[in-house]
Amino acid sequence: MSIKSIAVLTSGGDSAGMNPCIRSVVRYAIYNGLKVFGVYRGYKGLVNGEIFEMNASSVGGIINRGGTILYTARLPEFKQYETRKKAAENLEKLGIDALVVIGGDGSFRGAHQFHKDFGIKVIGIPGTIDNDIKGTDYTIGYDTAINIAMDAIDKIRDTATSHERLFIVEVMGRDAGYIANAVGLASGAEDVLIPEIEISLEETIERIVQGRKRGKTSSIIVVSEGAKISMDILHLAGYIEGKTGFETRVTILGHLQRGGSPTALDRIYASRMGAYAVELLIKGETDKMVGIVSDELVSLPLEEAFEKKKDFDENVYKLIRILSI
Ligand code: ADP
Ligand code: F6P
Repeated sequence: MSIKSIAVLTSGGDSAGMNPCIRSVVRYAIYNGLKVFGVYRGYKGLVNGEIFEMNASSVGGIINRGGTILYTARLPEFKQYETRKKAAENLEKLGIDALVVIGGDGSFRGAHQFHKDFGIKVIGIPGTIDNDIKGTDYTIGYDTAINIAMDAIDKIRDTATSHERLFIVEVMGRDAGYIANAVGLASGAEDVLIPEIEISLEETIERIVQGRKRGKTSSIIVVSEGAKISMDILHLAGYIEGKTGFETRVTILGHLQRGGSPTALDRIYASRMGAYAVELLIKGETDKMVGIVSDELVSLPLEEAFEKKKDFDENVYKLIRILSI
């Protein structure tokens, strides 16, 4: 049976590019004769009935805006069948046949379960700065986040150079090191500490010391927030300063990386994936995630996206270390 009406929501952590993605889902669906509803606050709004009809102008003027106009939330109770049932009843009342979920792997688990329970068609679009989702080279918001972090480190480098200091810069990524790895390469860091690679602090310290002996006057270490270090980041700075004698400072970039106007790449991928999600629903597909692999649009079962871990490219990590000699 062909679909007539879809809803779209954003769930989990917001990311720059969610707005262009919403815009694409809404306008591509309207272009194809579908009715479109927006849901506020992710699964929370789905359960509470915060669902409203959208038109082409509902998404006007948002392509350049970070965050999500639909708001986002986390609702742990969505793991319970009874909570999901309320959400399904709300969709049924409005005659909505399908749901587009823009979020991370947790949101996809919810979408998959929702589809299994009630047969509502679902398509997931990867939206998280962490880029930790299997089956896609990019997640929406990652490119903006790494550009913001790179810009920040460029600025930090000025002070590091002027004062001949060592800077430890913490970036986000939850328990994945993709942001740290990319930012480390793009900003010419001396070393990166990431969850995927076993950390030897003594080796990192030795690399810094040797670099200084070769004539380097400042150093940048990028640390992923999920890196398995035996101490917190402030103690780490004290420890490294004690061992090396180099004046050390810490900057935690935090939520700066989540906001801001989306980069061109994030807008382009978000727009392409949004339209493709609707295209799949029109073709009768469900329980899939859309992604980008080698710049091509792809789709895969949602389960594969959240059950398997994304392969980590150690070559980038190795290159950072080679290029920082
Ligand atoms: P992300 O989607 O960014 O990974 P979370 O892991 O916080 O973010 O998940 C977002 C929301 O998805 C949760 O608050 C919850 O409502 C829903 N969710 C997560 N895991 C499940 C699950 N196993 N079953 C049902 N819903 C889930
Ligand atoms: O998943 C995106 C992310 O920004 C992670 O990198 C980070 O660990 C987490 O969300 C922070 O979540 P919150 O905004 O709830 O503090």
